[in-house]
Parts: sequence; structure tokens; C-alpha cells
Amino acid sequence: MSAATAPGGAATGGAATGGAATGGAATGGAATGGAATGGAATGGAATGGATTEQGPTGAELLAAEDLHRAFGPTPALVGASLAVRAGEVVAVMGPSGSGKSTLLHCLAGIVRPDSGRVIYRGSDLSAMSDRERSALRRGQFGFVFQFGQLVPELTCLENVALPLRLARVARREAERRATDWLGRLEVAEVAGKRPGEVSGGQGQRVAVARALVTVPRVVFADEPTGALDSLNGERVMRLLTGAARETGAAVVLVTHEARVAAYSDREVVVRDGRTRNLERAA
Ligand SMILES: Nc1ncnc2c1ncn2[C@@H]1O[C@H](COP(=O)(O)OP(=O)(O)O)[C@@H](O)[C@H]1O
Ligand SMILES: [Mg+2]
Repeated sequence: MSAATAPGGAATGGAATGGAATGGAATGGAATGGAATGGAATGGAATGGATTEQGPTGAELLAAEDLHRAFGPTPALVGASLAVRAGEVVAVMGPSGSGKSTLLHCLAGIVRPDSGRVIYRGSDLSAMSDRERSALRRGQFGFVFQFGQLVPELTCLENVALPLRLARVARREAERRATDWLGRLEVAEVAGKRPGEVSGGQGQRVAVARALVTVPRVVFADEPTGALDSLNGERVMRLLTGAARETGAAVVLVTHEARVAAYSDREVVVRDGRTRNLERAA
């Protein structure tokens, strides 16, 4: 199988092309796993240099521009905009029902806005095919949700290895990287257990490991601590933001809790489907 040779070769391909919009994104992202050993920072830098189509604000990685989206008669977004720079942690705050999750889903290419644009590294998500968008999600994005996203039939180790397996990384290599990430998330001891056998806090740390194992450029986290007590919530946030900063991943963090948002570099408030930037008192 070519899987054994894939990591090295693909790493070069991914870095050289920098073409997020192409189908190569899946392999590119997986290959970035190789960067876990070396330096995702290098990967990030390479991107900045290789990509010429970025907007006037050079470091901008992902941007939503004037998004509108309704679900039947219910308006969820009525002019939401948000720009995420490479490597920054942005908290999206706001009361329940204000449109936070819809905004996150639009940014991640899961929900299509009725109008407005989402630009990732110079490419309009709406101009991509479904295949290209899902390759992008698999290779360049990581996801953490409130609960329920681990596959119950798989062990925690297999859950973390899954995104790599889907990107055709050989089993041994995938499990080696998954083991490393379980350790980084301080949850190595649950490797052989199934999600039903671990605590809520452990499960979320496994979910964070799974989101980061491909070394994504953007991690989307929707109320990642919503089902945890505050102590476990803080631990998840410390480990999530710490690992993201180490690998150079940007984080879009949806939360309605100020103490969770405090882990971010910047806060954006969503109210009735509209965004506004919040200047944080230093
Ligand atoms: N799939 C959906 N079908 C119908 N209505 C939806 C759907 N998703 C969101 N909404 C509605 O859109 C609004 C914004 O929802 P959401 O983005 O989930 O807000 P938040 O994450 O801030 O709680 C709410 O009124 C919600 O009921
Ligand atoms: Mg929500």
C-alpha cells in the first residue's frame, strides 16, 4: 500500500500547493499530521507565503461577510460578519437562539448562507463543490461539540485515530499519533475504553484530541464545555487553547459563558442574528 509512503510525499504536496480549494486538501491536511512532529508553525508560515489570494488583511484565514440565513420563517442570521486570523482564538458569545451555532456552521461550510460570503484562504466556500467542501472539513478543520460526537462502538484511541484513518493514514501510524494526542490532552489512560465508560470531562478531552489529531488550521468548538462542571470545563479549555496555540490552529469558540470566553484572544457578540465586536477592557 502506498499509505506507508504517503505521509512524507503528501506533506510536500500539501505545503507546496497551498491549494485549500482543491481536492488535495484532504491529503494536505492529513499530511500536516507529519507537521505534528516538526512544526505546524512552519506549515502555517508556508501557507502565508504560498497563498497570494488572501484579502487586504494578509493574515486573514477565514471570514464571514454579511451572512443572512433563515430556517423557514425564522431568521437565524441577519447580517453577521466575522474574520478569523491564523492562530487566534475567537469567542463567539451571545444568548441562546441568537445565531451562534448557525454562524459557526456557515463558517465551517456545513450550512449554506442564503446570502453573504464565507472566504477561506482566498476561496469562496459557495464556489466549491460538496466534495471539495467535505475535503476541506476533513483536512483543514477540526470540530468539538457539546456532547455525543464520539463513536460509541470504538475505543477512545480508535475515535482519535479515525480522522487519520479516513485520510488514509496507515493504522499503526494513525494510532501512534492518536496515542500522542491522548497524552497531550492528559487522558492517555482511557485509550482502550469506549466513550460510555469514561467521564464527561475525559470524553471531551478525547473529543479535543480527535479534533486536533489532523493538525487542522481551524478548530470549531460549539459550547465544548456546556455539559461539564466548571473545573472540568476549565481543564478542557486550558488544554484546547494550549494545544491550538502550540500547533498554530485558529479556534472559533462558541459559548455563552464569560469564563469560557476568557480563554480567547477576542470576543464577538451575536445578538438577534447580528454580530458586533467587543473591545475587551485590558
Ligand atoms: N435547523 C434549524 N431549523 C429550524 N430553525 C433553526 C435551525 N437551526 C437554528 N434555528 C433557529 O435559528 C435561530 C438561531 O439558532 P442557533 O444558531 O442555533 O442559535 P444559538 O446557537 O445562538 O443558540 C433560533 O431561532 C433557532 O431556533
Ligand atoms: Mg448553539
